[in-house]
Amino acid sequence: MSSFKEKLDKTRLPKHIAIIMDGNGRWAKERGYDRIFGHQNGVTSVRETTEAAAEIGIEYLTLYAFSTENWSRPQSEVDALMELLIDTIEKETPSLNKNNVRLMAIGDLSRLPGSAAEKLQRCIAQTSKNTGLALVLALSYSSRWEITNALKNICTEVLAGNYNIEDINDELISNHLTTKSIPDPDLMIRTSGEERISNFLLWQLAYSELYFTKTHWPEFRKENFYQAIYEFQQRERRFGK
Ligand code: FPP
Repeated sequence: MSSFKEKLDKTRLPKHIAIIMDGNGRWAKERGYDRIFGHQNGVTSVRETTEAAAEIGIEYLTLYAFSTENWSRPQSEVDALMELLIDTIEKETPSLNKNNVRLMAIGDLSRLPGSAAEKLQRCIAQTSKNTGLALVLALSYSSRWEITNALKNICTEVLAGNYNIEDINDELISNHLTTKSIPDPDLMIRTSGEERISNFLLWQLAYSELYFTKTHWPEFRKENFYQAIYEFQQRERRFGK
């Protein structure tokens, strides 16, 4: 059986793939379980996707794990999701190291509960020397929060006389976002059928290819990931030219 992985052109792989992992709740409800069961099963998909990305040499994989808007979900779901996220990160740290994966996080991390923030920073520090795939978790992230924050910082610097208004350009703005050391995504995948960006990387996705699949996140496997890259490779990117 030929797989999408075998059909990939290894010389034209996307450098950065970003994913909106959607549909955990619906997947669980359809099976008569509560939403958190969907999130728990979503962890397997995170592991599979991370492995799949590392196997073919993708440089950056960004996963939208928790949005600013997710803070308004019922407290019991917020608590369970936060615990699952942080426990998973902690448990997977040895495996990240074994696979040369470097963990990074973007978002308003000051809103994370203290113990979660500490554990997260520990895992980031423990994997910081790895040189393979960078796994970027968007946690307490929203693009409008990020752009607002960048604007505030740029204005502060202009007022302090460090920049003139004329210095503000694409590059300066990019360098004030939480993704400043990360190239823009080449490909953005969203699972579970919704065709929206939902406040995710609005600036950075300007020229990205968007790929939507009906597969719910808990069922997303390596072959689904490779299929998305295969479809990406069939498209022609013109960057507005
Ligand atoms: C969206 O499904 C998913 C999330 C808000 C959370 C994603 C979290 C995980 C997969 C847990 C583990 C993650 C890591 C990085 C260790 P939804 O609840 O919005 O689903 P719905 O749209 O069907 O309601």
